[in-house]
Amino acid sequence: MTSSARVSLWTLAFCLSLGVSKSHFSIPMKLYAGKYNVSGRAGLTPLRRVTSDGNGLSLASDPTGTVNFLDMADNLQGDSGRGYYIEMLVGTPGQKLNILVDTGSSNFAVAAAPHPFITHYFSTALSSTYRSTGRTVSVRYTQGNWEGELGTDYVAIPQGPNGTTIINIAAILSSDDFFLPGINWQGILGLAYPILARPDSSVEPFFNSMVRQLGIPDVFSLQMCGAGLSASSTADPAGGSFIMGGAEPSLYRGPLWYTPIIEEWYYQVEVLKLEVGDHNLDLDCREYNMDKAIVDSGTTLLRLPVNVFNAVVEAITRSSLEFSSGFWDGTKLACWMKGEDPWRFFPKLSIYLRATNSSQSFRVTILPQLYIQLITDVDGVMDCFRFGVTSSSNGLVIGATVMEGFYVVFDRAHRRLGFALSNCAVSGGVALSEIAGPFSAADVAANCSGGSSKDSLLWIISYMLMAICAVILVILLLLLALPCRCRNGSGEITDESALVRHRIK
Ligand SMILES: *[C@@H]1O[C@H](CO)[C@@H](O)[C@H](O)[C@H]1NC(C)=O
Ligand SMILES: *[C@@H]1O[C@H](CO)[C@@H](O)[C@H](O)[C@H]1NC(C)=O
Ligand SMILES: *[C@@H]1O[C@H](CO)[C@@H](O)[C@H](O)[C@H]1NC(C)=O
Ligand SMILES: *[C@@H]1O[C@H](CO)[C@@H](O)[C@H](O)[C@H]1NC(C)=O
Repeated sequence: MTSSARVSLWTLAFCLSLGVSKSHFSIPMKLYAGKYNVSGRAGLTPLRRVTSDGNGLSLASDPTGTVNFLDMADNLQGDSGRGYYIEMLVGTPGQKLNILVDTGSSNFAVAAAPHPFITHYFSTALSSTYRSTGRTVSVRYTQGNWEGELGTDYVAIPQGPNGTTIINIAAILSSDDFFLPGINWQGILGLAYPILARPDSSVEPFFNSMVRQLGIPDVFSLQMCGAGLSASSTADPAGGSFIMGGAEPSLYRGPLWYTPIIEEWYYQVEVLKLEVGDHNLDLDCREYNMDKAIVDSGTTLLRLPVNVFNAVVEAITRSSLEFSSGFWDGTKLACWMKGEDPWRFFPKLSIYLRATNSSQSFRVTILPQLYIQLITDVDGVMDCFRFGVTSSSNGLVIGATVMEGFYVVFDRAHRRLGFALSNCAVSGGVALSEIAGPFSAADVAANCSGGSSKDSLLWIISYMLMAICAVILVILLLLLALPCRCRNGSGEITDESALVRHRIK
C-alpha cells in the first residue's frame, strides 16, 4: 500500500474513533448506586480465606490453597517522597528487585540496564524464562520517561500470595528523570486498568495476570505508613502493606467507606465537596473533578485543580498565618524553632466523596501533620516544612499525602474504593486522619464528574475535529487519485501517556 493510502486510512480511523469517542461522552456511566452497604465491611470478610480455583499454576506451593493476608503485612518499604516499594523475584532464578507500587499507571517495568541512580538491575540474559516479544515500549510522564523492550517472565512476591505468575515486563533500557537520586527501587508496578497500558491495552497489567493465574480475588489494598515522618530522612524507611487479594482487618479501624470507581482507567472517583477547617469552599462541584479526580499512590502530594488550590490557600491564610507565596507554591520551606508545634496554626482538610448510595457522601479528613511535611532541620535548632498540596492542570490527585492517613481498598471486583482509618496514621497517640458519614449529597449536583458546559464544549471540539478530518480526507482522496510518488513515511506514533507525577527527591 502506498504511504499516502496508509495515511488516509489512518485519518479515516482517527475520524471514526472521534465519532466513537463523541458518542462515548453521552453514554451514562454505570454506577453501583445503593447496591452496597455504605459501611459494607461484610462484603470483604469472606475474602480473608480464599480457596484457589484449581487452575494449574495457582498457589502450587500452598497445599491448603488459602491466602493469608497477615503474611503480607509490612511488605512495603519507602515513604511518600521517594515512593513505596515491594520486593519481588523476577525471572528464573529469581532476581531480587524493589518495585514501586503505583496505582496511577498500568505497566510493569524494570530497569534492565545500568543507571547511575540504581544499585542493580534485571538482567534478561541471566533469566532462562525471559521471552522478548520484540516490541518496544515507551512511557512519558509529565516528569520523567523511559523506553524499553516488551517481554514476559515469571515473577514471585516473597511477601505476597503463594505462587508464580507469568507477567508482561517492560525491560527499561534507557530513561530520563525516571530513576531519581536516593530512591531504593529499580522498577515500577502499575496497578491501574488495561486502558492505560502501553503500547496498548492488549498488554495485560500485572495484577490482572495475577488474579487470572493465581485465582485470588480481584481486590488489593494499601496501607502507607509515612505519616508524620520526615520526607527526606534516609534512615529507617517508614514502610507499609500491600495486601493482594483482599483487605486485612488488623490494619485499619472502624468501618470501610466505599466510593464508586466511576471509570476504570485510573482509579477515578467523584469528589463532591472540600472543606478547610469548618469552611466549605462552596465551589461548583465540577471544579473538584476538572478534568478528573483519581487516587494515585505514585503521586507524592495532594494535587488540586488551580481554582480549587487557590481557594484552599485563601481559606488557610484566612484562618492562620501569613506566609510568603513561595511556601504555597512549593518553592520555599517554612521553618520553626525545634519543639514549637507548627501544626496548631493550620486547619484540617476534608474531602467529601460520593458514597455507593449516590444520594449520600462520606468525608476523609487529614490533619495538618499529614500535609505540612517536615523536610529538613537547620543547624539542629529549626525544623523546616513544606506545603504538601500543589496545583494541577490535569485533575485532582489524591496522592500519598492523603493516602497515608487511610487504609485504601481497591475493590476492583465491585468497582469501588474503600477508605478506613489506618492503624499507622497515629502520632503520639493522636490520630492524624478522620473519616465520617453518611452525609446527604442533596446539596451538590447529581453528577460532579462532567459538567454540561464541559460536555457541550467536548461536543463542539469533536464536531470541529470531525470537520477538519473531513477536509483532510477529501484532500487525501484527491491526492490518491493523482499518480503516486512514493516516499517512506515517518509515521511514527509516539506514545505519550497522560500520567501525572510530582515526586520530590
Ligand atoms: C440512600 O440514601 C438516601 C438518603 O439518605 C436514603 O433515603 C435511601 O434509603 C438510601 N438508599 C439505600 C438503598 O440505602
Ligand atoms: C447491609 O448489611 C446488613 C447487615 O450487615 C445486611 O443485613 C443487609 O443485607 C446488607 N444490605 C446489602 C444491600 O448488602
Ligand atoms: C503460603 O503457603 C504457606 C505454606 O502453606 C503458608 O504458611 C502461608 O501462609 C502462605 N502464604 C500466603 C501469603 O498465603
Ligand atoms: C457525568 O457526566 C459525565 C460528562 O457529562 C458523563 O461522562 C458521565 O457518564 C456522567 N455520569 C453519570 C453517573 O451520569
